[in-house]
Amino acid sequence: MREAQRAAQRAHDAAPRQLEIEGDAVVGAGSMQGEKDYVGATPSWVIWQLLSRYTREGDLVVDPMCGSGTTLDVCRDLKRKGVGFDLNPQRPEITRNDSRKLPLEASSVDFAFLDPPYSTHVDYSDDARCIGKLDSGGDDGGKAYYRAMEEVIREMYRVLKNRRYMGLYVSDSWRKRKGAPGAGGGEFMPIGFELFAIMRKYFTPVDIICCVRHNKKLEFGNWRRAAEEGNFFLRGFNYCFIMKKVDDGAS
Ligand SMILES: C[S@@+](CC[C@H](N)C(=O)[O-])C[C@H]1O[C@@H](n2cnc3c(N)ncnc32)[C@H](O)[C@@H]1O
Repeated sequence: MREAQRAAQRAHDAAPRQLEIEGDAVVGAGSMQGEKDYVGATPSWVIWQLLSRYTREGDLVVDPMCGSGTTLDVCRDLKRKGVGFDLNPQRPEITRNDSRKLPLEASSVDFAFLDPPYSTHVDYSDDARCIGKLDSGGDDGGKAYYRAMEEVIREMYRVLKNRRYMGLYVSDSWRKRKGAPGAGGGEFMPIGFELFAIMRKYFTPVDIICCVRHNKKLEFGNWRRAAEEGNFFLRGFNYCFIMKKVDDGAS
């Protein structure tokens, strides 16, 4: 009997993992495709959930900031046609391109996914056009960052077919800054809500999902102690904003 149970367990462990559609608006975000060593790679599970719900087999899916290619891997798994762009492409099938101008026809895409730089904390490349060089809490009040992101969002709206969807995965940011009035002597940058407000100018909101990162890094170093001493929360989640293009010809 025990041997039979062990054999069943071995078969279960060896079987390819079938991800399941999750029904909660607060979800864990663990699994990886793309390159797990690419700093800032998106958990593939997030993209898998979006594509499973908002696209069908054969649909054209675009990722304007495709990085290590996670979206392309998920598309391959789910039999969608994936097209990826990035200023710092990590694979030959990703086209080098500034996402503020996509080489795609208007209203030609079935779904668009975006995981942009969250301000300046990752140095993605030397390319001066990288939006990760623009500070969302800079002396300009983040104007240059949000202006650039609006150009990307507007471009996603242009290429998306009417009545189709996009997903944007992003987190807020916090950093220490001398003299800042915020908790713990720091500055909080509400990037998620700022980008949501920009997207609302173009798109109709569909949902906001909270993706819990279960970030092991928060357990290391001084983060937890600093949070207790400084009296602030550790932010261990990303937003996943889901938006729909609804062009009723009114504007
Ligand atoms: C958070 S990472 C994306 C990660 C990607 N989804 C993955 O799973 O690997 C953000 C990406 O935006 C790219 N990027 C920054 N500014 C860009 C721009 N103006 N046009 C295109 N890509 C840009 C960076 O090179 C970086 O790869």
